[in-house]
Amino acid sequence: MAYSSLSEPVGDRECTLCKSDDLAVFLSLGPMPPANNFLEGGDLYEEEGFYPLDIYVCRDCSHMGVLPRVDPSELFSDYVYMTGVSDTMLAHLDGLAETLYDRYLEDVDDPFVVDIGSNDGSLLAAFQERGARVLGVEPADDIAAAAEDDGVPTMNEFFDGDTADRIVGEHGSPDLVTATNVFAHIPDLDAVTEGMNTLIGGDGAFVFENAYLVDLLEGTKFDTIYHEHYYYHAVRPLVSYFDRFDMTVVDVERLDIHGGSIRVYVEPGAAARSDRVDELVQLEEDRGLDDIGTYQQFADDVNDIRQDLTALLDRLKSDGNRIVGYGAAAKGNTLLNYCRIGPDHLDYIVDNTPFKQGRYTPGMHIPVKPPDHFRAEHDDIDYVLLLAWNVAEEIMSKEEAFFRTGGEFIIPIPEVRTVDTPP
Ligand code: TYD
Repeated sequence: MAYSSLSEPVGDRECTLCKSDDLAVFLSLGPMPPANNFLEGGDLYEEEGFYPLDIYVCRDCSHMGVLPRVDPSELFSDYVYMTGVSDTMLAHLDGLAETLYDRYLEDVDDPFVVDIGSNDGSLLAAFQERGARVLGVEPADDIAAAAEDDGVPTMNEFFDGDTADRIVGEHGSPDLVTATNVFAHIPDLDAVTEGMNTLIGGDGAFVFENAYLVDLLEGTKFDTIYHEHYYYHAVRPLVSYFDRFDMTVVDVERLDIHGGSIRVYVEPGAAARSDRVDELVQLEEDRGLDDIGTYQQFADDVNDIRQDLTALLDRLKSDGNRIVGYGAAAKGNTLLNYCRIGPDHLDYIVDNTPFKQGRYTPGMHIPVKPPDHFRAEHDDIDYVLLLAWNVAEEIMSKEEAFFRTGGEFIIPIPEVRTVDTPP
C-alpha cells in the first residue's frame, strides 16, 4: 500500500507542549487513511490517501501524540461527524451547558459564549436555551451550514488569532469559551491558545473537554487514536503548558463520555487552583505516565486485541456466520484498518449518520447502511461487531430485537468479548 502524496504532513518532530525533541515512538498503527474520510462509490477507484500513524510520548513532559501531523485541511473540510446524532452526546452537552452556566454566567448581564469547533451547534443551542448569546466557529462547511439553519450563528473557518480579533471587534469579549473534543485536533496549538487568550481577555474562562490519557491507556482504547487526534492529554503536561501563556488550570473533572475524558477549566493569570488538579497530577504519576514501560505494555495489549479479534472473526466466518459492524465511528476505522478487517468479514456497517450512509469506510471500503436496513434483515445476521463501543448501551438497547433472534454483539475493547443479552 502506497503512502499518500496528497499533502505534505505539517509540523515537526518536537513536543507540541514543552518543545522537547526527545520523543519516543512506541507503537505504529499505520498505514492509515484519515479516519473520517468516508468514500463515495466512485472514489474507491481513485488513489486514496494513507499516512503512517506513529504514536509517541515526550520523554520530558510525558505528553502523548501522533506523527505525522497531517494537514488539517486534509482531515476536517469534508467532515462527517455530527454531535446531534447521539442522544448520549446531546444529554452530555446539555449537562455541560448547565454546569458552566451556573459556574460562570448566572450573574452576568447579557452572557456571551463562543464555542470553538462548534460542530452542528448542539452545545451552543443548550446555552441559547438558557438565555446566552452565542457564536460558533466551525471549519466544516456542511456542518456549519446545518448549525446556521438551526439558528446557531456560526463562523465557517478554522479558529486562530485573526478569528479571535474579529470576534472581539465585532461582538466583544466572550465570558466563556468552550471547546469539546477540539483541543486535541489542532497541530499549531500555540496559535490557538494565544487566540484564546485574546478572546477571554482578563476575566473570561476557557473550558475544554478531551479524552483522558489515563483512561485511554488503562482501557487499551487504541482505536481512539487517529490523525485527527494529534494529542492525548493528561493534566500534568497541560498545567505547565498553560503556565507558559500566563493562564492557570484552575480545576479538572473526570468524565465518562467518549470512553473517559477530562474537563479542564482554564482562567487567565495566576488564579487559585482546586485540589482536584493536584489529585489528578498525582494519579498520573501513580499510573506510571512518566514511565516508558507503561507505553510499551499498552503496545503489547493492542497487539493482543488484534490477534484475538481477527482469530474470532476468522473462526465465525469459517463456521458460516453473517457478521455486520455497528457504528461507523472514526475509531472503528482505526480498528478495522489496523486489524485488516474488511468486507470479507463484515457485510456492512450500520450507522444513523445521514452523511455516512451510502458511503464506504476509508481504507477497508465497507459499505455503510442505515439502521432500518439492518432491522429488516436482522434474522439473517448472527453477530454484530460493535465499533462504537462508547455508546454500547444506547445502541444495544435500540437493537434489543436483534438479541431476541439469537444474535450476539462482539465488543472489541478493552478486550474482545461477546454479549448475548441487552443491557
Ligand atoms: P462516535 O461516538 O461519534 O465516535 P468517533 O468519535 O470515534 O467517530 O461514533 C458513534 C457512531 O455511532 C456515529 O457514527 C453514530 C453512530 N451511532 C449509531 O449509528 N446509532 C446510535 O444509536 C448511536 C448512539 C451512534
